[in-house]
Amino acid sequence: MAFTLLVNGKTHSVDVDGDTPLLWVLRDVLGMTGTKFGCGMALCGACTVHIDGVATRSCVTPVDGVGKSQITTIEAIGATPAGVGIQKAWLDHEVVQCGYCQSGQIMSASALLASKPRPTDADIDDAMSGNICRCGTYLRIREAIKLAAQSSGQGG
Ligand code: FES
Ligand code: FES
Repeated sequence: MAFTLLVNGKTHSVDVDGDTPLLWVLRDVLGMTGTKFGCGMALCGACTVHIDGVATRSCVTPVDGVGKSQITTIEAIGATPAGVGIQKAWLDHEVVQCGYCQSGQIMSASALLASKPRPTDADIDDAMSGNICRCGTYLRIREAIKLAAQSSGQGG
C-alpha cells in the first residue's frame, strides 16, 4: 500500500504494508539508518524519533498511523534549535561511549528541551527514563541536558 510520509521536511512516497513499523520504513526503505533498533518492544528507546515534536518509539509505530504528521529523525535534529544545543552539549560533555543508544537519547533530550526549556531533575528523569544505555552514560547525559538548557537561556 502507498503512503506519503513527511520526514525531515521532505515528502517521501513508500509502498509497504500498513502495519510495518515506522522504524523499518526509515531504515530499510528510506535508508535513514541513524535511528537504531534495540528491542522492538518500546522498552529501550534506541528507535526514538519525533512525531509532531513528540518523542515516539518508531519500532511500535505502524506506518499507517502516522498520517500527515511531521517526522523528525536524528539525521535532521541538528537543524532544530533544541537539537543544536543538545548536540553541542553532548560534545562538550563527551557523552557518547559506544554510541548505539545515543540517537535515541538525543531525540528524547531534544524533545524535552523543545517543550520544557528549563527542565527540573524530575522532568529529565521523566523524559529520559525509557532510554536505556548499556554503557551507563546516564550521568553525562543529565549534565549535558542541563548545560544545553543553560546555554539556550544565555542565548535568549
Ligand atoms: S527498539 Fe524501539 S524502544 Fe527499543
Ligand atoms: S553509549 Fe553505549 S549503549 Fe549508550
